[in-house]
Amino acid sequence: MESFKQEKIGEVPSNDFKAIKKEREAKIREHEREKFGGDYSKKPENLKAFIEIGLSGIIEKLPSKIKAVQLGGAGGRLAESVKKILEGEGKNSDFSIVDVNKKFLEEAEKRGFGVFELNLVDKVPIERIDLAIMRNVLHYNSIEDIKKILRNIKDSLKPEGYFVNQVISGKDQYHVEFINKILSKEALGRGTNYLTKGDYLKLCEEAGFDTKFAGDAPAGKWTLKEMFWRTYPKKAEAQGVEDLSVFSEKEKEEYFKKRDSYVEKCKGILESFSRGKNIEDIDFKGVETEIEFTGPIFVSQPKIKK
Ligand SMILES: C[S@@+](CC[C@H](N)C(=O)[O-])C[C@H]1O[C@@H](n2cnc3c(N)ncnc32)[C@H](O)[C@@H]1O
Repeated sequence: MESFKQEKIGEVPSNDFKAIKKEREAKIREHEREKFGGDYSKKPENLKAFIEIGLSGIIEKLPSKIKAVQLGGAGGRLAESVKKILEGEGKNSDFSIVDVNKKFLEEAEKRGFGVFELNLVDKVPIERIDLAIMRNVLHYNSIEDIKKILRNIKDSLKPEGYFVNQVISGKDQYHVEFINKILSKEALGRGTNYLTKGDYLKLCEEAGFDTKFAGDAPAGKWTLKEMFWRTYPKKAEAQGVEDLSVFSEKEKEEYFKKRDSYVEKCKGILESFSRGKNIEDIDFKGVETEIEFTGPIFVSQPKIKK
């Protein structure tokens, strides 16, 4: 198993963890997020991979009427796709969407889902769930909060219920360490806890789950420019990454200054890794430096009490 960096990452206090807050403050809607380099969520091949890898092995074990929830579900696009597939298999699902971001939930409501606006750290608002799905959510939270979230999910499932989760990770332990550093509170004012497969399996075990790695969804690639823009307090009217047409000259100047300083920080972080740590495949190209994120999918069930 890869080494577990729990103590080190766990030092970030929950109330100091800005990742979710930063995205919420950007006050964008889900379809706007997609314009800003976040289109991974809606790509049909990524939705398909989640279903094929995460669900195909368990569909026949699910009841004909499924009580289901998408956690950190934003606009509910993934739930919509999963619902359709389940219907095709003769299974009727009643999905609710839980998210802390009210703006995203408005879109889930438009898709016809019941919604709950709350932080999963506090609770999962439904009991005796047959199927909980989650994708690309946990890294926004501190390690202590991830532990609470996983425990809340485990407690909300039926004993025979399933939790299918795709997390964002990196090729190996060093890549995960690198992406956590370039998206850290110090570098980007944000903070992330991307986990290795080993980290995730250990956290699930501690939360009381039996968990299997089911396979990898397609990797995503983001440039430093996209990652910086994503949490920049941007104008709602901007049409895409670095569309500065709505910025005043002074705002543009400030933007480039902050962005370039961020890229310099990332260069320093990359250089600090080059001595013996295995991330030589990351080619520094300034703002256009591309970072690959992997998408392991896991299937969990509450451990059977003996
Ligand atoms: C990158 S988006 C992914 C959206 C969706 N799961 C998908 O794959 O299309 C992450 C979502 O997780 C939500 N989120 C993160 N941490 C959360 C928490 N502790 N409680 C509730 N929602 C959370 C965010 O508000 C955001 O909508």
